[in-house]
Amino acid sequence: MASYSFNTLDPATEARVAELLGQMTLTEKIGQLNQISPLVFTPPDPSQGVDARPTFSMRQDLDDEIRAGRIGSIFNTREASFVNRCQRLAVEGSRLGIPLLVGGDVIHGFRTIFPIPLALAATWDPDLVERTARAAAEEASATGVDWIFAPMVDIARDPRWGRIAEGAGEDVYLGCVMAAAQVRGFQSQGLASGRAVAACPKHFVAYGAAEAGRDYNTVDISERALREIYLPPFKAAFDAGAGSTMSAFNEIAGVPASANPLTLTTILREEWAWPGLVVSDYESVRELIPHGFAADLKDAGRLALSAGVDMDMMGMAYLNHLADLVAEGALPLAAIDEAVRRVLRLKFRLGLFEQPYVDESVAAQVTLTEGQRALALEAAQASLVLLKNQGSLLPLKPGAQRLAVIGPLAESRHDLLGCWSLFGEEGDVESVMDGLRAYLGDTAPAPIAGCPLRGDGDFEAEAAVAAAEAADIVVLVVGEGQDLSGEAHCRTQLGLPGRQQALVDAVAATGKPLVVVLLTGRPLVIPELAEQATALLLAWHGGIRTGRAIADALFGAIAPAGRLTASWPRHQGQIPLYYAHKNTGRPARGAGTGQFVEFFRSAYLDAPNTPLFPFGYGLTYTQFAYRDLALDATTLGPADTLTARVTISNIGERAGVEIVQLYVRDLVGSVTRPVRELKGFARVALEPGESRRVTLTVPVADLAYVGADLQRRVEPGGFELWLGPDALSGLETDFNVMA
Ligand code: GLC
Repeated sequence: MASYSFNTLDPATEARVAELLGQMTLTEKIGQLNQISPLVFTPPDPSQGVDARPTFSMRQDLDDEIRAGRIGSIFNTREASFVNRCQRLAVEGSRLGIPLLVGGDVIHGFRTIFPIPLALAATWDPDLVERTARAAAEEASATGVDWIFAPMVDIARDPRWGRIAEGAGEDVYLGCVMAAAQVRGFQSQGLASGRAVAACPKHFVAYGAAEAGRDYNTVDISERALREIYLPPFKAAFDAGAGSTMSAFNEIAGVPASANPLTLTTILREEWAWPGLVVSDYESVRELIPHGFAADLKDAGRLALSAGVDMDMMGMAYLNHLADLVAEGALPLAAIDEAVRRVLRLKFRLGLFEQPYVDESVAAQVTLTEGQRALALEAAQASLVLLKNQGSLLPLKPGAQRLAVIGPLAESRHDLLGCWSLFGEEGDVESVMDGLRAYLGDTAPAPIAGCPLRGDGDFEAEAAVAAAEAADIVVLVVGEGQDLSGEAHCRTQLGLPGRQQALVDAVAATGKPLVVVLLTGRPLVIPELAEQATALLLAWHGGIRTGRAIADALFGAIAPAGRLTASWPRHQGQIPLYYAHKNTGRPARGAGTGQFVEFFRSAYLDAPNTPLFPFGYGLTYTQFAYRDLALDATTLGPADTLTARVTISNIGERAGVEIVQLYVRDLVGSVTRPVRELKGFARVALEPGESRRVTLTVPVADLAYVGADLQRRVEPGGFELWLGPDALSGLETDFNVMA
């Protein structure tokens, strides 16, 4: 599947840009740098209760502003007819007829909603992830969206941060793989609309490092960490051809990301020579004022544009003040020209001048088709992570056992859409009960909510307990509502919300086997639930086919094969918790239990250091054995490629997919190195009894890291290597890299 690439300059385009730029007045240039949502957003009215939804109303001045050339881009529209109307105002109503860029938050699907990105990453299947991005681009581009504000590539190591839901989790290597896959998918060629879409990896940069996991909070990290952890997924996205990026809300070591010369100019333009378009996040230019970085909106406009933000999303700083700044000599016209050049460059590369209008008949042909729905099911199935299966309770035989279905999420559809589903409809969603009914028909039990999804409302433990007593097996459907993760949805308490744990306690007291289906937008802190569950299936907010996927797994039509891409803590006090941590000078030797302090070791008094479930972890309905790990060579030079081989056997009774992971540890470095780093993985499907010799390769160049001098280098020395099923286990060997 070919994709567009917007990461280089095309001479013919540059000539067209220069010719048009030469015709533009300063007002028209500034208009191109202004991005507006046609919809005025009104937050939900709290007096309407927890289910109140925000409202959106159409701006009244939109038409005049477009005709006057004061708007270069609109975003978050949903109808092709509306986009065509706005495009006509721009193309036929303005002096130079420059078409609009039409953006959209298509984070995990447009109308066909796929699992949240943290769940998609748990598939460890970049090809599948690319196909979901292409499917999203098919639907979005048919409505006139030619600029998708995704993938979100922020590395996140703090599950208190609600936006951990939107990215690929804690790991740099996997984050790079998933970033590139999504860019390729979004920027696919051959879409039914005949149009092209630009991806927009975000939020540039280090947004996931917000202190205390609180959204928009301070980020104060070393430039070395910035370059080693937070920048690589953006570089992977740009190398995959991404045509734009979005500057973040947060500051980085005192300088806001939306006015940061180091990241926006030195790294992006001088070191990486990337020619794409930088759009600010929503009013993040205006927010330089509350940051205490700009004195007023005019100052904010000057600082942001000078640093390298080309387009101002909703902030009005550019529209209102750039002309004065140029007139006062506070901003060179050349800086504005360069920003406008990047906007025009993308518009030309997207073909908007040749094809500004979208064929309004296409959307109905490509939206929510059987193929899209089948892909949504495939993705929901592949994102399931089986965290526990005591006594191989799962899979169940349909009808063989009396089931009770309990929990506040058993019938929910809206919550399964996840935190970023602007254009999704809950009527498209299969709830958990819909999935169970597909197997059990009328024999499916009537679900009992047991308690509300949040808060202290009606607690129906008696009815739940009675249902459990009358059943052979209890299916508990618990977790987070979709409104507890995503932007500005951070939590200090990461257990089950409301009275759900009390409900679980009451049902668990019956002693019946518990199949827990956990729906969530983030890692949760669930040590009691994990203990009480007989089987624990993590289904995330898995999109429109979540319910069917869960039923397929519970009744064995498919075997869960997902693996975690963010660590699940035992206690919130462990956060931030991630596998690629440093060894320290006093590493904990054991688990570090509460009764005694390991002799002055980096351990807690009251908990082990290890997670409840580690990065890379996930079970399936069979077991795998690893043997005969070997390296083709144990001494390698800088230009060599490491080749590791291991035999994996399916020693169970069912077919299954193992995701074998390759980790290394650089034992001695000029800066300290993590105890493990993922450097490769492979999906291996094996029939029962089947064995396979699996080979994974890692160019020695990929062992490079950022030194104290901020240069990437591979340093000679000893390495350990693991091949295994997660970040805490595997067969181990070692090798040396020579100078
Ligand atoms: C939001 C988000 C960003 C989104 C943008 C446009 O505040 O931070 O991810 O793309 O605004 O909706």
